[in-house]
Amino acid sequence: MGPSDPVSRSLLPTTAAVDGDGRLSIGGVDLVELAEEHGTPLYVYDEEHLRIRCREAVEAWGDGVAYATKAFLCVAMARLAFEEGMCLDVSTGGELHVALTAGVPAHRLVLHGNNKSDAELASALAVGIGRIVVDSFDEIDRIERLVTEGSGPGVRGSAPVRPKVLARITPGVEVHTHEFVRTGQDDSKFGFGLASGAADQAVERLQSLHDAGIVEFVGIHAHLGSQVFALAPFVQAIEVLADFFATLELPELVVGGGLGVAYVNGEEAPPMAQWASRVRAACLHAGIPESVRVSAEPGRSIVASAGITLYRVGTVKDVPGYRTYVSVDGGMSDNPRPVLYGSGYEAFLPRSAGAERPMPIRLVGKHCETGDVVVAEGFVPDDLRVGDIVATPVTGAYGHSMASNYNKVPRPAVIFVSGGVARTVVRRETFDDLVRLDL
Ligand code: LLP
Repeated sequence: MGPSDPVSRSLLPTTAAVDGDGRLSIGGVDLVELAEEHGTPLYVYDEEHLRIRCREAVEAWGDGVAYATKAFLCVAMARLAFEEGMCLDVSTGGELHVALTAGVPAHRLVLHGNNKSDAELASALAVGIGRIVVDSFDEIDRIERLVTEGSGPGVRGSAPVRPKVLARITPGVEVHTHEFVRTGQDDSKFGFGLASGAADQAVERLQSLHDAGIVEFVGIHAHLGSQVFALAPFVQAIEVLADFFATLELPELVVGGGLGVAYVNGEEAPPMAQWASRVRAACLHAGIPESVRVSAEPGRSIVASAGITLYRVGTVKDVPGYRTYVSVDGGMSDNPRPVLYGSGYEAFLPRSAGAERPMPIRLVGKHCETGDVVVAEGFVPDDLRVGDIVATPVTGAYGHSMASNYNKVPRPAVIFVSGGVARTVVRRETFDDLVRLDL
């Protein structure tokens, strides 16, 4: 498949359909009409696709699999993941707050974070969080103090129950992904290193807190990194952890998230079920008893290809001898991934979704810097003109969640589409929102 071929169907959400005129709809809603009605930029999610992916995760991993909310979180998404049977991984007090606001029961939540504050831990304990994934010795001290004292800042008089905890271990396995999103290597701010002996010390401390009735030490956690295409590193991590894990006789093992997704034509990522079965087979092979709950925390692979961003073209500028710049009304404020990681995306016109895309362009945003690129090497139909709605698929993960107000650009609305109905789940920011925190 060449770069100028139409955008691959596999990059579009499940319910994507192209009508006789070539117009794309998702969830039975025409995307150009949706953009006209709600304005641009606009994050559009296929609700059916989100639900299917959650169900696939539960089917592949079983009860306990957690959706990593950092990939995309709002009240509607938290509710959806919970309704579809997933636990939710939250890594800050803010994510915890959104999940609780959505009505997700605290026992379905897993608290992460390499630097959890007293206040974050205290409120997690007070609500009865399902699991805490412990990341540092300071955190072990904090949990011990908060549980023993039965209170913490912001949680007056409450008596936290004995929390279930897992120890986050860095197994020393490197994955071939962007260095900013690699976490399983020895040189990492996350977790307790296996090679350095920190992991042994951490489990020793947690076991003694367990014996003292302060925590319930239930498992080991290892997250290798994100946007990982090859399953071999997950197998390798199990092999590396197996002996260490066996001696502890714990009931839970979590391999983190990280399953990659295809962003551009020609890319292919392993399906959820294959990820789970390879990990499970590696566990059995390594002698990990079948009774151990082996689980994961997918984020990107749940939401990425459910989402698509719509922009409106504002200017088209030919720079002779170089390229054609197509400027849209968003950019690094709604999708910082190209500038942060050099990530590639496709661009296409929802009014002619099946069209050939012979025209090479650079799709750029409206922000005041050259790095503000949406698609560095894009191809579009050659009848693209100012005023067109242009779409970038596979923007459902780490777009909305990492969005900013750079240049005081209001953040886009988030729309869920399903059964011919568009539901605004996060409203667009207004200019007034941009000054609401100023005193
Ligand atoms: N569990 C832990 C402990 C994590 O740190 C992460 C992601 C996940 C699960 C979910 O990983 P996923 O399945 O989404 O790969 N902003 C970057 C990605 C950062 C990932 C951080 N941790 C990006 O846009 O590519």
